[in-house]
Amino acid sequence: MLAPLHERHDVDVWPGDEAIPRAELLKRVAGKDALICVLTDRVDDELLDAAGPQLKVVATISVGYDNIDVAAVRRHQVAATNTPDVLTEATAELTWALILGITRRVAEGDRLIRAGGWKGWTFDFMLGAELRGKQLGIIGAGRIGRAVAAKAGVFGMTTVFARRDGTAPRGPDERTIDEILVTSDVVSLHVQGTPANRHLIDRKALARMKRSAFLVNTARGSVVDEDGLVWALQERLIAGAALDVFEKEPSVHPGLLQFENVLLVPHLGSATRETRGAMAALAVRNVLAVLAGDPALTPIF
Ligand code: DGY
Repeated sequence: MLAPLHERHDVDVWPGDEAIPRAELLKRVAGKDALICVLTDRVDDELLDAAGPQLKVVATISVGYDNIDVAAVRRHQVAATNTPDVLTEATAELTWALILGITRRVAEGDRLIRAGGWKGWTFDFMLGAELRGKQLGIIGAGRIGRAVAAKAGVFGMTTVFARRDGTAPRGPDERTIDEILVTSDVVSLHVQGTPANRHLIDRKALARMKRSAFLVNTARGSVVDEDGLVWALQERLIAGAALDVFEKEPSVHPGLLQFENVLLVPHLGSATRETRGAMAALAVRNVLAVLAGDPALTPIF
């Protein structure tokens, strides 16, 4: 997928499987016209200064751009792009994997079998929660939230949305965030990882949820106060949580590891072969466009 870039430009590709070390990134970005990066690469004044004034575009291969200091990028008059749309379905699918996995105790059952702890079928063994007739509450009514909702009918769930921008509910399926928390059986988070959304789900919010409800986060770790979540699980204020994202990735709050009713996956929302290919291709198209003097396809601002 880098071929179109190689055809027109000199390309310096980090060959490592792991994230490029910061010092190496600062060194290698010097003198470049474009940077294609991922969500673990922080784009701030330090990096933009290290790159130099010829830098024209930063293209993050992610829809979330909390790794980019937008004000700094604007100050340096550099274009910035992300990869919306192409990862919507993959992230929605993973969200459903988490919803089904936590409500039907899939990982817990797998752990039990592998540990040799399964003693055989019994009538009331490892009962889960059924989705049919329940309410899915989606916080963040954007592309991914809507794509998750689009699959809810298949499982017989009704869906309600809350906007994060603080505006009042407008449609018949819209609610305030508090109404979502109080009435939903599954609360799924689909807001951006902005400073304003930091700890949107804190102790107070968790205490508003039904004791039988599940929290699912495929958005950003910063949206959930993990200390608060551990507390809510200890107090049995909610039935469980399924998390794809964490406050201090790749560290996971040790308190979360003790609960059987917590399902943890390592930030896999967009991690399908198809989608990662599409994300990279979109980032490449953005860079080619800007370097050719054309508008970016998916500018952040
Ligand atoms: C994104 O694109 O923001 C995702 O979190 C990456 O999987």
